[in-house]
Amino acid sequence: MSAELAQPHRFAHVVRVARLAGRLARTHGADALRARVAGMLHDLARLYPAERLLRECAERGLPIDAFERANPIVLHARLGAELARERFGIADAAVLSAIRKHTLADAVMSPLDAVVYLADGLEPGRDFDARAELAALAFRDLDAAMRATLRSSIAHLTPGRALAPQTLAAARHYGIITPLEERRPA
Ligand SMILES: [Fe+2]
Ligand SMILES: [Fe+2]
Repeated sequence: MSAELAQPHRFAHVVRVARLAGRLARTHGADALRARVAGMLHDLARLYPAERLLRECAERGLPIDAFERANPIVLHARLGAELARERFGIADAAVLSAIRKHTLADAVMSPLDAVVYLADGLEPGRDFDARAELAALAFRDLDAAMRATLRSSIAHLTPGRALAPQTLAAARHYGIITPLEERRPA
C-alpha cells in the first residue's frame, strides 16, 4: 500500500489510540492530556521506509542496536519521540518516554508509558481474538493488562525470531520470562 493510501488509516489509528490512552489514563490516575498527546504523536515516523529510519536516527546521533539494525521498523518509536520534540515542541519527558516505548515496551514502564503501549496494541481497530478482553482488563488492572498483552505479543512472534532487548527486559520485569526459562533450549 502506498504511503498516500495508508495515511488516512494511520490517522484514524492515532485518533483511536489517543482516545483510548486518555480514557485509560483517567481510569488509572495518570495524566489524560499527556496520554492523548502521546497517542496523537506516537506514530509520526511509522510510515518511513527502513533506510530513512536508519538514516534519520544516525543523523541525530541515536544509537542503533543489533535488533534495531535487523528490524528498523521498531525505530519509528524512538525517532517519533525526536520528531514530536522537533516539530511539535513537545518537551515533556513523560510524553516523550511513552512515545519511545510504545512499540517494544521497556524494563521500566510508568503508568503513562503503559497506557500508551496498551492503547496502541488494544485500540478497537486492532483485529485479533483477545483484543476486547485485553482492553477490558486494561481498565481494571494496568499491570495485569501489561503482562497479558506482552505475553500475547511474544506468543505471536514468528517462531525463532529474536525478542528485542527492551521487550525481553519488560517481560522479565512483569515476570513473564524467568531467568530459568531463558536458559531453556527453544
Ligand atoms: Fe507505532
Ligand atoms: Fe501505533
